[in-house]
Amino acid sequence: MADVSTTGSFASDPMDEAAMTGLARRLAAELHPPLCIHLEGDLGAGKTTFVRALVQGLGYPGRVKSPTYGLLEHYDLPDLKVLHLDLYRIGDPGELEFLGIVDLYDECTVLLAEWPERGGDALPAADARLLFEHSGNLRRVTCMAHSSSGNALCHSFNRLL
Ligand SMILES: Nc1ncnc2c1ncn2[C@@H]1O[C@H](COP(=O)(O)OP(=O)(O)OP(=O)(O)O)[C@@H](O)[C@H]1O
Ligand SMILES: [Mg+2]
Repeated sequence: MADVSTTGSFASDPMDEAAMTGLARRLAAELHPPLCIHLEGDLGAGKTTFVRALVQGLGYPGRVKSPTYGLLEHYDLPDLKVLHLDLYRIGDPGELEFLGIVDLYDECTVLLAEWPERGGDALPAADARLLFEHSGNLRRVTCMAHSSSGNALCHSFNRLL
């Protein structure tokens, strides 16, 4: 079997915010739970903006807040649940265990985690990683697969670019 850690890595051209959120809205239709996506990149790289457009693309009508202070936001949609984590301010991975992320992350859930490197082993492993990079005023997004479901998502990402 192919080593999934090396399959399916696709990078966008630099995108403005409208192009990037358009991509995220289209990608929403390709989210099939259970799915764990890690979103990586510097402060202000566009992670929350991307998640907001994904959640709106799923049809969520309300406000999509950044979970920077609350650590976790969740959204109940007709076909799936979204958990949005931002671990930037986490003291230690034990806080994730306290939140019960492993129990909340069930077969109906898409988990989207910003600053995943701060979660350590308490965070479920990524099916796919999205890397956000500044390119002048624009952002480049790279989708990397780490499981077969992540690979399917990355191929959808590439098709939708
Ligand atoms: N593709 C883009 N092109 C230009 N500006 C963008 C793009 N995506 C997001 N922005 C802008 O960048 C700023 C920061 O975005 P955002 O909050 O999504 O970053 P973040 O990666 O979540 O940061 P943090 O690590 O602090 O949570 C916002 O003002 C947003 O409007
Ligand atoms: Mg953010």
